[in-house]
Amino acid sequence: MRSAAILVSSWATAALAQQVYAPADGPVVRPTKCSVNGSYATATPIYSFTPFSFTQTETMRTATSVIPGPTTTYAPPYESLSHLVPDLATTTWGNWDPNAAAATDSADPYGQAAWSAIWERANLANFTERGMYSTTLVLPPPSYFQPQDSYYFPKDFEFGVAGSASQIEGAIADEGRTPTLMEIITIGRGEGDPKDYITNENYYLYKQDIERLAAMGVKYYSFSIPWARILPFALEGSPVNKQGLDHYEDLIDFAIAKGMEPHVTLIHFDTPLQFYADPYNRTGPTVGRGDGGYSHPEFQDSFVHYGKVVMTHFADRVPVWYTFNEPLLYCENGKAVDAVIKSHARLYHFYHEEIQGAGRVSIKFNDNFGVPQDPAKAEDVEAANHFNEFQLATFANPIFLGQDYPEAFKMTIPDYVPLNETDLAYLNGTADFLGIDPYTATVVSPPSGGIAACAANLSDPLFPYCVNQYTNTTTGWNIGYRSESYVYMTPTYLRTYLNYLWNTWRHPVVITEFGFPVFHEAEAENLSDQLFDQPRSDYYVQFLSETLKAIWEDGVHVAGAFAWSFADNWEFGDYDQHFGIQTVNRTTMERRYKKSFFDLVDFVAARTQK
Ligand SMILES: *[C@@H]1O[C@H](CO)[C@@H](O)[C@H](O)[C@H]1NC(C)=O
Ligand SMILES: *[C@@H]1O[C@H](CO)[C@@H](O)[C@H](O)[C@H]1NC(C)=O
Ligand SMILES: *[C@@H]1O[C@H](CO)[C@@H](O)[C@H](O)[C@H]1NC(C)=O
Ligand SMILES: *[C@@H]1O[C@H](CO)[C@@H](O)[C@H](O)[C@H]1NC(C)=O
Ligand SMILES: *[C@@H]1O[C@H](CO)[C@@H](O)[C@H](O)[C@H]1NC(C)=O
Ligand SMILES: *[C@@H]1O[C@H](CO)[C@@H](O)[C@H](O)[C@H]1NC(C)=O
Ligand SMILES: *[C@@H]1O[C@H](CO)[C@@H](O)[C@H](O)[C@H]1NC(C)=O
Ligand SMILES: *[C@@H]1O[C@H](CO)[C@@H](O)[C@H](O)[C@H]1NC(C)=O
Ligand SMILES: *[C@@H]1O[C@H](CO)[C@@H](O)[C@H](O)[C@H]1NC(C)=O
Repeated sequence: MRSAAILVSSWATAALAQQVYAPADGPVVRPTKCSVNGSYATATPIYSFTPFSFTQTETMRTATSVIPGPTTTYAPPYESLSHLVPDLATTTWGNWDPNAAAATDSADPYGQAAWSAIWERANLANFTERGMYSTTLVLPPPSYFQPQDSYYFPKDFEFGVAGSASQIEGAIADEGRTPTLMEIITIGRGEGDPKDYITNENYYLYKQDIERLAAMGVKYYSFSIPWARILPFALEGSPVNKQGLDHYEDLIDFAIAKGMEPHVTLIHFDTPLQFYADPYNRTGPTVGRGDGGYSHPEFQDSFVHYGKVVMTHFADRVPVWYTFNEPLLYCENGKAVDAVIKSHARLYHFYHEEIQGAGRVSIKFNDNFGVPQDPAKAEDVEAANHFNEFQLATFANPIFLGQDYPEAFKMTIPDYVPLNETDLAYLNGTADFLGIDPYTATVVSPPSGGIAACAANLSDPLFPYCVNQYTNTTTGWNIGYRSESYVYMTPTYLRTYLNYLWNTWRHPVVITEFGFPVFHEAEAENLSDQLFDQPRSDYYVQFLSETLKAIWEDGVHVAGAFAWSFADNWEFGDYDQHFGIQTVNRTTMERRYKKSFFDLVDFVAARTQK
């Protein structure tokens, strides 16, 4: 296999380089080139007396002055593009109230009664909503500790924050929105059990959220738009929800007015409920862990239509588009993978060829980088390659290289849809950069019965990845610090990973999510203890330091990094995994900055080329 050969050789390069990154026999040499009148390594300190007085002042920082912009446009406005999505009807449906009198317009396929029927089918337990809240801006003191390195982020490096609709918006049944996968996983489909449908009420508090980010100097804001807010009936030919369009119109304009670039993800696990309607049964082995409905016969065309509606409306102001978030996790079978890469490619071609957008289109991948348990053992290296290729090359080979699916995928998911030369030529080069959410690494070795036997056996507990995964190395040490989620959170191997991605798929890499849920933070009794989140600060500073080394020492083009997440949020079942750089009071909705937010923006601001 040509693609496999490329992966193996790039792995060999990375594995070799890795030994240079971290000397095994003592203190790590500091990369610093800072010096005062020669080197601190040889200078003698000059001791002296001065009159003592208490000089401390309580640090009060004011919000960074916000410069509106950018005024750049990336595509013509909707008025000039509307012919690309002909005959869009718009309407409004308002909020769903389970106690309201039944609507009487049952003859209208898109009327109030039809809309309410979708909510009744979702059958949400204990449905409740709350109102609007205000927040107070409270600024903590800055951090004194910063590493003394010398590298800078290039001028065009995009540092921002990310979030996703279902984890922050709430207002799930308001202003015409219909249910999505993220609500129905609460009613017995086996993936979590949210306590309520409120999350962070960002649908109502978005202006406060954006202002609080702007005040911290954040310039890039990555968020997702739920399909079910734009097209409540999901399919092509159904009316567009005027209230939903107006909401994101206002959100985008407000972010720009506050000096931020809005980056949009079209689907972040929130497939509309329609794709779970009968008659629909999933077939074949599960690829990731969930069922995103991507293999539904109507999914591909409907998603492309939805993408066109959103792009034609907002492409003038939105420079970066992600089609799918972490598609592998909700690819239910081989047909789902086919639908993902083909609908992604269709939207890429639409954006660049029909809209003639000057921005960028990409896709966000998940993969907790698999590293061989023993890099000197060929079978461990093969297992690590298998693990990473299954998750990444399955999508990235066709999209970035115009190459077929990897063997790792084809041997595991035999119902995959073969790609012919025409498909591959159409798919080739349909992403402008590679988006990756590298939360942690995992140490990999082959299963005792071999990879092939496992890949052929749906009942094997290691299926579909078919490797052993460890959180420690053969030394017995864990690879990182215990977190509330993902077991270990670590920048360990991040630099190797960035090398792997860049050298394998040969496109700029954007770290589309990175973040750290501090172990047991949710249990901290006092808010003041949650706010002083030093382990998260350390994580961010180490992670970005490794990113700088990849840029300057390895020549890897890392084009941006987006902190996950800008506030604690609903992590698909509960609020215990605090990924946020702000707290959210679940009663009052008040947001507070954690210390790590300051340390993070200060680290980046001090190191960004002017
Ligand atoms: C560095 O050299 C300058 C000029 O000779 C001198 O004024 C300054 O005190 C020196 N700084 C240190 C830390 O030695
Ligand atoms: C609904 O509320 C009841 C009573 O508070 C509780 O026992 C039940 O677990 C809740 N159901 C769900 C799905 O949250
Ligand atoms: C879906 O699958 C279930 C269980 O396998 C079966 O009972 C049902 O008839 C199927 N529905 C359709 C529409 O095929
Ligand atoms: C994919 O496109 C690139 C850039 O145009 C080209 O160099 C490469 O040969 C193509 N790949 C295949 C497999 O045709
Ligand atoms: C390739 O496959 C597509 C379906 O994905 C089909 O429409 C097309 O006709 C095929 N082309 C060739 C040359 O076989
Ligand atoms: C598949 O895996 C299951 C669970 O480990 C095992 O019981 C079964 O024997 C395996 N089947 C084959 C054909 O190896
Ligand atoms: C790695 O961790 C596992 C689980 O805690 C443990 O069983 C194993 O012995 C550890 N490996 C080493 C080399 O210490
Ligand atoms: C929380 O704060 C209160 C009041 O300052 C204090 O009495 C209590 O011990 C604190 N709890 C913890 C776990 O530190
Ligand atoms: C949330 O706010 C309420 C009301 O002000 C307060 O009583 C509660 O202690 C706060 N919760 C946390 C975790 O700070």
